[in-house]
Amino acid sequence: MSDNRNADTGETTTGHVWDDDLADYTNQPPRWWMIGLAASAIWVVVYFLMYPSIPIATSGTFTPGIGVPGTGQWTAVKEMEADMQAVNDARSKYENKLKDMTPAAILADKELSEYVARSGKVLFSDNCAGCHGQNGIGTIDKQGLFAPVLNDDDWLFGGTIEQIYESIANGRQAMMMAHKSSLSAPEIKTLAAAVAQGNPTSTPLFTEKGCVGCHGADGKGMQAMGAANLADKVWRFSGKPEDIEYTITHGVNDAGDKETRVAIMPNFTAAGKLSAVEMKKLAVYVFKFGGGKASDPAATTN
Ligand code: HEC
Ligand code: HEC
Repeated sequence: MSDNRNADTGETTTGHVWDDDLADYTNQPPRWWMIGLAASAIWVVVYFLMYPSIPIATSGTFTPGIGVPGTGQWTAVKEMEADMQAVNDARSKYENKLKDMTPAAILADKELSEYVARSGKVLFSDNCAGCHGQNGIGTIDKQGLFAPVLNDDDWLFGGTIEQIYESIANGRQAMMMAHKSSLSAPEIKTLAAAVAQGNPTSTPLFTEKGCVGCHGADGKGMQAMGAANLADKVWRFSGKPEDIEYTITHGVNDAGDKETRVAIMPNFTAAGKLSAVEMKKLAVYVFKFGGGKASDPAATTN
């Protein structure tokens, strides 16, 4: 191989041969490949000039003054702003309508209510989930359930879209006085046992001691006062007899009892944290957890 040619084909080789016949040729790469190489070299220069290639905080490459990034004027921020504008345009189509609509009208409009429920999810995570849990599953503190479950069909204050909106916009603070001084220990035990069985009216004490005044003659509660239904074995705080005794003894939101159960739903209008449209969105979102009820202005008990 002294002339560096392949003996069979006559083509030039580098003179390196392995395993007797594996030779290293000196052929040029194909033309198309060379054109590609040249084109990409040119493209590097073009790209370098058009885009902000040298990372300087406020400017790009070959810029006459600071702040003009590349001749193409492209920046990641501008691209994001354009995308945001597109999203806002799509949203404003809906948002403008929401201002003048009632929560019930929004709920009745399929397209709008789906849009609203989506943004309601974010609002709920930011403003409500801390107390009511993600997806409204409720939260437990050492005294039992602190903020009520919102994704069932059991409502303290009512589950129509209007009542849910009312709960959010005006806040809620139900009150049950402590009974530690008005009832004896055995009376509290008797009442708690009857309530635990879901049959509060089984003891005459329920009427005699005035429980009916708020929980109703049938023990099924009154939404106007947020008084819980005691006959359905769905628990606001807890269904354990000792926990029920605790509720009867110390009451709920009774300022005169230091150990009272605290249950205050903040007033989001007064807090100025949410706009009316945002509260409408939340009402629809909460309604759509599945427990919302058809509107009936006459309904006062559940
Ligand atoms: C600080 C804790 C807290 C926050 C934050 C909070 N809630 Fe409440 N929420 C409560 C409590 C406690 C109650 C029950 C009040 C009572 O029993 O008097 C309640 C009651 C409600 C009710 C009535 C439930 C029923 O059964 O009738 C609705 C609806 C509701 N909240 C929705 C919301 C929404 C929506 C948000 C977010 C905008 C929110 N809450 C934020 C604590 C909270
Ligand atoms: C002034 C009205 C009022 C009176 C009187 C009253 N309650 Fe209540 N009670 C309420 C309210 C309101 C709630 C719900 C509080 C909340 O969830 O914020 C409640 C909640 C309860 C609960 C908790 C239920 C659960 O699901 O965890 C029990 C138990 C209870 N009451 C028993 C009684 C008994 C027994 C009497 C009579 C001795 C009585 N209450 C008298 C207003 C009253």
